[in-house]
Amino acid sequence: MTLRAVVAGVGHYLPARVVPNSEFERTLDTSDEWIRSRSGIERRHIAAPGETTSGMATQAALAALRDAGLGPDDVDAIVLATSTADLTFPSAATMVQAELGMTRGFAFDVQAVCAGFIYALTNANALIVSGQANRVLVIGAETFSRIMDWSDRSTCVLFGDGAGALVLEAAQGTGTNADRGVLSTDLNSDGRHREILYVDGGVSTQTTGHLRMEGKEVFRHAVEKLAATATTALTKVGLTGQDVDWVVPHQANIRIIQGTAKKLGLPMDRVVVTVQDHGNTSAASIPLALSVGQERGQIKPGDLVVTEAIGGGLAWGAVVLRW
Ligand code: ACO
Repeated sequence: MTLRAVVAGVGHYLPARVVPNSEFERTLDTSDEWIRSRSGIERRHIAAPGETTSGMATQAALAALRDAGLGPDDVDAIVLATSTADLTFPSAATMVQAELGMTRGFAFDVQAVCAGFIYALTNANALIVSGQANRVLVIGAETFSRIMDWSDRSTCVLFGDGAGALVLEAAQGTGTNADRGVLSTDLNSDGRHREILYVDGGVSTQTTGHLRMEGKEVFRHAVEKLAATATTALTKVGLTGQDVDWVVPHQANIRIIQGTAKKLGLPMDRVVVTVQDHGNTSAASIPLALSVGQERGQIKPGDLVVTEAIGGGLAWGAVVLRW
C-alpha cells in the first residue's frame, strides 16, 4: 500500500470587478485586438480597494471545503502560494487560518511567483505522504493589480487578481499510476534568469516596486521548459502525453498554452483554458483553472491531469495527478 494525497475538493474566488480589454484603450496606446491576438486575454478581474490576497484566499478555501463536505477543523495544514501577501509578515496563510477559525495545525506561504501553486502542491503532497498531515488546504491567491505599472502597456494588460484552492487528503493507494491523487512532481529553478521577469522593489530596498518583464525572452523559455517538465513528471510514473485526459497549464498566454500542448502531442480539446476570462493570475491561475474545469464538467473523477507552470526566478515545474 502507498499513501497518496487525493483531491477531496476544489473552489475559487474572483473579485466582482471585470475589466474588459476595451477599458485599456482609454488610457494606453493599445487595442482589444492587440491584446487578444498576442495573449488570448479578453478580460480580467481586479480586486476592489481594500480587498486583499488573504481575503480572496479565505473565500476560495471556504469554497473548496464546501466542495469536500468538510469544515476548517478537519484540516491539518494550509500551504498558500503567493507573491502578493497582504503584509511582509505574518504569512497570508496564517491570516487565512485565523479567518477560517482554525485553532490547530500549521500554515505557511510559498513564493515561487507563477510556479507557486506547483511548488505548494508539491510541498503539500510531501506533508501528506510523509505522514505529517492528513488533510491540507493548498491555495494560490494573488493581487497582481497592486504591482502593475499601469502606464506600461507591455505588462499591465496581461495580469489579473483571484484565488483558487484544493483540499488534499491522505488515502491508501496501490502504488501504481492507476491510483487517484498526486502521482509525480517535478520542480526546477534557474536563478540566472532574474532579469527577464522580476519586481523592481521589495522589503530590503524599502519600495513595493512594479513587475518588469522581457516578454519575448519569457515566452521562449516558457514553451521549451513547460513541455520538458510535464514530460519529465509523466515519465517518472511510466506515462506519456497520450495517457493525459487534461492538461491544466498556468494561464499566462494562449500562445504559450498552444505551443506547449503541441510539443506534448495533445490537441487543444484536452487543455483547460481560462486565460480569456482571468488573464494571468500568477499562483492563482492553476487552482482557478482546476476549479472552473471541474465546474464546466471537463475534469471528472479518475481523469489523468497534468498541471505545469513557469514564473519569475525562473522557477518552473509540473504535477501529475489522477483527479
Ligand atoms: N498594445 C499594443 N502594442 C503593444 C502592447 C500593447 N499592450 N504591448 C507591447 N506592444 C508593442 C511593443 O511595444 C512592440 O512594439 P515595437 O515593435 O514598436 O517595439 C510590439 O508591440 C511587439 O511587442 P513584442 O514584445 O514583440 O510582442 P510579442 O508578440 O512578443 O507579445 C507578449 C508580447 C504578449 C508579452 C508576449 O511576449 C508574451 O506573452 N510573453 C510571455 C509573457 C508571459 O506570459 N509572462 C508571464 C509568464 S511568467 C508569469 O506568469 C509571471
